[in-house]
Amino acid sequence: MRQTNLVRTQVATREGFSSTLGVIAATLGSAVGLGNIWKFPYVTGENGGAAFILIYLFCIALIGLPVMISEFVIGRRSNSAAVGSLKKLAPGTPWFLTGVSGTLVAFLIMCYYTSVAGWVYAYIFKALSGSLGTTDPKVSGEAFASFISGTWSPLIWQWIVLIVTGAVILAGVKNGIERMTKTLLPILFVLLLICDIRALTLPGASKGVAFLLSPDFSKITGAAILTALGLAFFKLSVGMGVMTTYGSYIGKNESLIGTGVKVALMDILVSMMAGMAIFPAVFAFGSNPAQGPSLLFITIPMVFNSMPFGQALLAIFFVLASIAATGAMISLFEVPVAYLTEERHWSRKTATVVTALAIALLGSTATLSASEASLLANFKIFGKGMFDFLGFLTDNIGLPLTGLALALFAGWKLTSSDVYDEISNGGSLNNRGLIRYYLFATRLVAPIGIVIILLSGLGFIKL
Ligand code: PFF
Repeated sequence: MRQTNLVRTQVATREGFSSTLGVIAATLGSAVGLGNIWKFPYVTGENGGAAFILIYLFCIALIGLPVMISEFVIGRRSNSAAVGSLKKLAPGTPWFLTGVSGTLVAFLIMCYYTSVAGWVYAYIFKALSGSLGTTDPKVSGEAFASFISGTWSPLIWQWIVLIVTGAVILAGVKNGIERMTKTLLPILFVLLLICDIRALTLPGASKGVAFLLSPDFSKITGAAILTALGLAFFKLSVGMGVMTTYGSYIGKNESLIGTGVKVALMDILVSMMAGMAIFPAVFAFGSNPAQGPSLLFITIPMVFNSMPFGQALLAIFFVLASIAATGAMISLFEVPVAYLTEERHWSRKTATVVTALAIALLGSTATLSASEASLLANFKIFGKGMFDFLGFLTDNIGLPLTGLALALFAGWKLTSSDVYDEISNGGSLNNRGLIRYYLFATRLVAPIGIVIILLSGLGFIKL
């Protein structure tokens, strides 16, 4: 069974729910993950706060969302998954290479995503053992640094993550994680809300709120804008064919624009809630907002420790975060597995095992370079350790480039009448104005925006 079946099963088993909810739950299951609770807060912290968030929101509205809808259009029009859809819609042309590059990007993202997911899994047990019981940022920071700079412990956690994810993929996901995600995401939401209330009532919290809400544009550089764009793609799970595949299972009478907008809004809400839990606490406890990937692991334990039943709630928080991460990983993992089974005709088992081993191999270089004291910390590519390099290569280069190709395909290669037909559901939706905006964004705003942001982020032009 491939990923497409995951969604098909998902929709088919959602009796009692409208399929709109089924599709949104599946899409949101891929979108919500470590991106919301780990990446969004830490890159926001590194890039100065509110101004970065504003640029991120523009990137979503003007670029990420149009690309997401393009993927839906390509998927539903062709009724096929990533690589196959482009082959079907543009036979005998090199457009299918877009699917190939998306597949490669998904694989590379998995190499560091599994590493961070391993830390999240491990933190469940650390919370249960009571070893995270501190409200001192120094102690919390040192505990985290010594954990991730180790060799075997973080590696073994990464392998556990791979085994769990691989097992779910092999089991076919029928009643698995997607369904669980759907039930548990609301609980994660409630827990985030509890965190928010606690963080916002800490003395000194207002500085954190200001950090998130009052923009200071002096911190914004071309590189920050490129990071915001990469985050928009990463968050929405676009730029690697996952949403093309999901699009192929969106019912013919669902609104593609409506689905995209709802998913993007809910995803932003979860990210902002994570931000509201983390930044007020960062300032209240005198922690550093720009400390990078460790931010979540240092701040969240301190927030929970300052409330009753803190350790238990902390463990539950990391359980839910693990589930959200696993849901996102499944959609990522499926991209190379679907490619190997459909295009190379491997058995599903071989494809899963080989993909997991390849991720374990390359991913170990990410795990072993995550901190300054790690074993491979001194091995640098373009001045970055492997962990940072993989993040940069995928989010800041791979996703925008693949997203660019997908937007160009939907905007220029598909005919306008095909696009009108697909987005208006054969003329039954009265959304001509929205379609005109979508076409304008897909044909011009997104491609030009991506090219300018890429060139400036990489230092080729100065904005
Ligand atoms: N959107 C996920 C997150 O924010 O954690 C990550 C992700 C999942 C990216 C699936 C890409 C993807 F295809």
